[in-house]
Amino acid sequence: MTEGKPFYDNPGVQEQYFAHRARPDNPNDVLERPLFLELVGNLGNLDIVDLGCGDASFGKEALLQGARSYTGIEVSRAMVDIAQQKLIETSGKIYHEGIETWRSQAGQANLVTSRLALNYVENLEPVFQQVNRALRPSGRVVISVEHPVITSSFESLARGRRTTWLVDNYFKPGPRFHTWLGHKVTKYHRTLEEYLDLFTNAGFELERIRESCPKKENFLCEEEYERRSRIPLFLLIAVRKSQELHGTIRTDSPANH
Ligand SMILES: C[S@@+](CC[C@H](N)C(=O)[O-])C[C@H]1O[C@@H](n2cnc3c(N)ncnc32)[C@H](O)[C@@H]1O
Repeated sequence: MTEGKPFYDNPGVQEQYFAHRARPDNPNDVLERPLFLELVGNLGNLDIVDLGCGDASFGKEALLQGARSYTGIEVSRAMVDIAQQKLIETSGKIYHEGIETWRSQAGQANLVTSRLALNYVENLEPVFQQVNRALRPSGRVVISVEHPVITSSFESLARGRRTTWLVDNYFKPGPRFHTWLGHKVTKYHRTLEEYLDLFTNAGFELERIRESCPKKENFLCEEEYERRSRIPLFLLIAVRKSQELHGTIRTDSPANH
């Protein structure tokens, strides 16, 4: 968020964001999406909670593929409106709410996802506890975030389209401020170790990590493929709820949805 207002509610941000997403070879579609879909696997009969769901494109796709239910949590009013429109004739539900204030219902899901939203959240410890509570035994979590080598420093982005990448202050987790789509935005840098420790401490076991290594066949432009082969843009992590009881939280506290 930026000074109280959700970033995607700033004037012009939504239009620019969707224009970016519509570009050929945009990184979400050529790097993040194929790996995310591979990690979530078969969506049939799953109850899914999606944190920072954006326009709920994934929800629509999941329900078409036979997911039993889809619940999106989204802080931006503008995004919520688009997501609700997208899911209008489906059973999917969108809640206008921050990931930080979301309270899960015990055992409501067997898959929790979050795609490129957790970099906006300062404290993931309570969030992952809510995620653990949301999941049934052996439930899974699949997240994507901007890769820690990218979030360590946005200095090279300040000079426009990057031709070199600066990795700096890697072991200093915390806020990073930069300007994107014409507005100031705060993102939170975490090391790879920190992501894994957060999951372990919240009662999850690691299944798989992917670093968005590009596949040539997904790109239209060879030059863009070469550029994306230089540095990882996204980190994807899949974990499973551990059978052990550590890291779980009380299931009798109040829940919203
Ligand atoms: C880069 S977009 C990704 C949207 C969607 N997950 C996708 O992959 O297409 C990030 C989304 O996370 C939402 N978001 C950011 N911070 C959030 C928060 N604290 N709580 C809920 N949603 C948040 C934004 O409003 C935005 O819709």
